[in-house]
Amino acid sequence: MPAISYQYPACQSLVKSLLSVDIQQKLLMARDETYKDVALLDSKAEIPAKKQPLDSGFIMLPERLLEEYAAKKEHSLLGGILTTASILREELDRIVVLGIGGSYMGLRAIVEALLSPYHNELSRAERGHVPRLYYEGNNVDGDAVQSLLSMLGSQCKNKYELLDKWGIVVISKSGGTLETAAAFRIFLNALESYYGTDSADSRRYVVPVTGDVGKLRNLSNAKGYPATFPIPDGVGGRFSVLTAVGLLPAAVLGIDIVKMLEGAAEMTKRCQTGSIGENPALDYTAVSHLLEMHMGLRTRIFSTWGKKLEAVGLWYDQLLAESLGKEERGAFPLTIVNTRDLHSRGQQHQEGVRDKLITNVVVQNSRGPAPAIPKFGDDFNQDDLNRLSHKNLNDVMTAAIQGTNQAYAEVNRPTTDIIIPELDAHALGQLFQMLMLATVFEGRLIGINPYGQPGVEAYKKNMNAILAKG
Ligand code: PA5
Repeated sequence: MPAISYQYPACQSLVKSLLSVDIQQKLLMARDETYKDVALLDSKAEIPAKKQPLDSGFIMLPERLLEEYAAKKEHSLLGGILTTASILREELDRIVVLGIGGSYMGLRAIVEALLSPYHNELSRAERGHVPRLYYEGNNVDGDAVQSLLSMLGSQCKNKYELLDKWGIVVISKSGGTLETAAAFRIFLNALESYYGTDSADSRRYVVPVTGDVGKLRNLSNAKGYPATFPIPDGVGGRFSVLTAVGLLPAAVLGIDIVKMLEGAAEMTKRCQTGSIGENPALDYTAVSHLLEMHMGLRTRIFSTWGKKLEAVGLWYDQLLAESLGKEERGAFPLTIVNTRDLHSRGQQHQEGVRDKLITNVVVQNSRGPAPAIPKFGDDFNQDDLNRLSHKNLNDVMTAAIQGTNQAYAEVNRPTTDIIIPELDAHALGQLFQMLMLATVFEGRLIGINPYGQPGVEAYKKNMNAILAKG
C-alpha cells in the first residue's frame, strides 16, 4: 500500500544547518521515551508523578487490535465492532453521533475525508446502503438540537420502515461531559418515545462508547444496552480516533476500518525504527521544532488543498493545542483550506508577521476525473476562459499549489509538505498515527507532558457552579 511521506525541499538547507548533533540526540531520546512509555503503561507499575497522566496506549493499539482480530475474529473487540456496525448499518437509515472534542473530531475527520460531502442527501442506494449521519453533543446550542429533533420527528414517522429508523451512538470517555450527557438525555428521550420506552429497539439502537467506569457506563448498565464499547484506560480522548470512538461509527458508514488500522500500525513501526531523514513523525517534529526555536515560527499552518482534509486539520488543531498548549508554551495550530483561504489568510501568510510555518497537506491522486473547463463559442468568451478550456479543475489546483509555494519561497516563507499518495482509509490511518506520534515526540522533546488537558477543567468547574446556583 502507498506510504505517506513528509518532505521539506523548500527549507532543506536551513533545517540541515540547524540540525546539530545535540538536537539529533535529543530527538532520538524523545522518540525512545515515547515508545518506552508503552512498556511502562503495560507493566501496570506505578506511574512516576512527573509522567502522570500517561496515555501512551494509542501507540501499539492498532497493531494489537489487528492481532486480536486475526486470532479471535468475531470474538475480538474489532470483530464485535464490525458485527454491531453491520447491524446498525443494515437496520437504520440515520445515526446521531453524540460526543465532543476527542469523542467527535476524529470521526468527523474520517467522514469528511472519505465520504461524499453530500452523503446525507444521497439516496440509500447511492450511499452504498449505509445510514445518514448527524452530530450533536458537540455544543450546547439549543437551536441546533431542536432543528435535528424536528427533522427526525418530521422525517421518521414509521418506526417499522428502514428508511424511517434512527439510532444513537453516544461517545464519552469520562462519561461525565455535560454537553454530551445533556444531549444524550434529550435524544434518548426522543428515541424512547419513538420506539417505545423499554422496548427492545430502544435498547438495540443505542450504542454507548465509554470508559470502563463513569456515569455513562453506569447509565448504560442500568438501561441494559446489548452493545457497549470501551475506550481503553491509557488512551486519551484526542488520541482515541482509532478506538471504538472513531472505528465503530466509521464502520457503520461502510469505511474499511481494518485498512485504517493497518495504515496506522505501519506508521507506528516506521516511526519507531526509522532514522532521522526517514521517519515522518520525527522529521516533522524536528523541522517544526527547529523553525520555532530558531526562526520564531510559532504558528503552525496546516495547509490543506481541496475540501476533504479540513476536518483532519481541525482534529489536529485540537491534538496540538490540548497536548502542548501548557505552561504558557506550545505552538499555535491553524488549519486552512486552499484555495478558499488564499482569498482570506493568504495575504497574511505572504506578507504578514514572520511567525508561520506552512505545512501543505497534499493528496497526489484525486479519486476521479475532475470536470474540465468547457469551451464556449467565440461570442460568449467574455470571461476569457477559452484559453484554459483544455484544462480540468485538478490542473488548476496543481497550478495553485505550485504557484502559491513558489510565491512563499520567493519571499523566504518556509513551507513543508505531507504527501498523501491516495486519500483512502489506509492513508488516513497513517496520517492520524504520524501526527499523534509527532505531537508526543515534541512534548517529550520540550519537556511538556503531551497527555492530559488540565486547562480544560476550569470552564467546566465554573459552568457547573453557575448552573448549580440557579
Ligand atoms: O482530549 C481529550 O481528552 C478531550 O478533548 C476529550 O476528548 C473531550 O473533553 C471529551 O471528553 P469525553 O470523551 O470524556 O466526553
